[in-house]
Amino acid sequence: MQFYKMFLSALIVLIAEMVVPGLLSAQPDSPEVYRLRREKLLSRMDTGMAIFKGSSDNFYYLTGYRRPDAAMALMTGQRHEFNMFLPAASPLGDVYTGHQYGPEDAVRLYGADTAYTLSAFDAFVHRHLQKDGVLYADMGERDMQELLSQMMRQGRLNGLQAVRNISQLIDGMRLIKDGHEVQKLQKAIDITGLSFQKAMAITQPGLYEYEVEAAVEYVFRKNGARQPGFESIVASGSNATILHYHHNNERMHKGELLLMDIGAEYERYTADITRTIPVSGTFSREQAQLYRLVHEALRKGTQEMVPGKGIYEAHHRATDIIIRGLYQLGLVTDTSSPWQRKFYTLYPIGHWLGLDVHDVGYYGENNIHDNRGEMVNKNVLGTVLRPGMVVTIEPGIYMRENVLDKLQYLFPEVPQAELNAFAETVKPAYKRYAGIGIRIEDDVLITSGGNEVLSGEIPKSIEAIEQGIGEVHDQPSLFH
Ligand code: GLY
Ligand code: MN
Ligand code: MN
Repeated sequence: MQFYKMFLSALIVLIAEMVVPGLLSAQPDSPEVYRLRREKLLSRMDTGMAIFKGSSDNFYYLTGYRRPDAAMALMTGQRHEFNMFLPAASPLGDVYTGHQYGPEDAVRLYGADTAYTLSAFDAFVHRHLQKDGVLYADMGERDMQELLSQMMRQGRLNGLQAVRNISQLIDGMRLIKDGHEVQKLQKAIDITGLSFQKAMAITQPGLYEYEVEAAVEYVFRKNGARQPGFESIVASGSNATILHYHHNNERMHKGELLLMDIGAEYERYTADITRTIPVSGTFSREQAQLYRLVHEALRKGTQEMVPGKGIYEAHHRATDIIIRGLYQLGLVTDTSSPWQRKFYTLYPIGHWLGLDVHDVGYYGENNIHDNRGEMVNKNVLGTVLRPGMVVTIEPGIYMRENVLDKLQYLFPEVPQAELNAFAETVKPAYKRYAGIGIRIEDDVLITSGGNEVLSGEIPKSIEAIEQGIGEVHDQPSLFH
């Protein structure tokens, strides 16, 4: 038994030494970038302390540390502003999970002023609460909520000037991406572009949606993306009219479209891009008519995404184009009818993108993401765009089958006679397009001169898509 223990500890030391070289390559890519972010945050805080747990995007944003087993306390006006907490070194832990970072790494690699073991975090917070100061907390995390309620129960928050959610300060910082973030986003987007190339090369009738999904996610991983940034949507035929279709389990048929809404996650930043392609290589007449409309809405909407305009101006412009086009196709009877506009407008066509697919950031007082009734109110412009913001634009047309029979459930406030007249008039045209779902989604960086479509290289015109289907590419690994 004794011999066994000695053998095990020798083995542990050996393994620990073997993994140490790898450790250095895992340090934050640009410690200076993270230091500047912490400084900026500290400069915006009222006197006090901000506490974080390692599982949050905010923690990563401020340190570059990628694992959940950590905590941090930032304190204003102290000699030790950046206090980091990592698990105590444990050779046995190393055996299970590979090298673990310890407090000494926090100082050496992450630039912490002081470092402690993770188990000391709660006591540290209790000890350093500044009476009359503000306690900021990263409240999105469950661990943090538990810590705060425990502190509240123990009366430890009494006497503080305030307890505030750090998101008040940090969301605004994350809304404006720095060059370091844009680089990572661009990589996530480029990897996603390679996945579309692969998907277009293999798509053909008879294949299952999940086969395309597998090919897409293989390319993500092969190029260094950790995982999809959200559940991939690979939706053929009328599945494409379901916004959150994730089954990805049907066989694709000749004549259908395939909608792919995918995004690689690279170093925690995620792409969010949609392309819709014809399974058998060419768009039908009806599919092409709707596709051109969506593409035009995207093109014109993107022109609205410039500094000084509201985030929702692109939404209104793109929706105008779609509604006018649908009128010409006999699918709308009155372009000024709010409920007809709403019938074809299922969601706001843009959101902030970054560490999260629906990233943090303020949308303005009248937030149409929360109040979808406002989606058709053109007076609602939303947060004013500024250079460094990254926004998606994702117009779509979804011709859900049998939905004309359900108008009274969707719009109970509209007189029945008006709904019937609409349904009767558009029915013949609707039948021709029923089951078609199209979305095109790009990722757009707002710049001082206007914008840059970060996903602009990924084919989206009908001509480029028809040409790209079945085209086989030699796909070298993108980097590192
Ligand atoms: N893929 C999620 C979205 O487009 O918002
Ligand atoms: Mn998407
Ligand atoms: Mn999106």
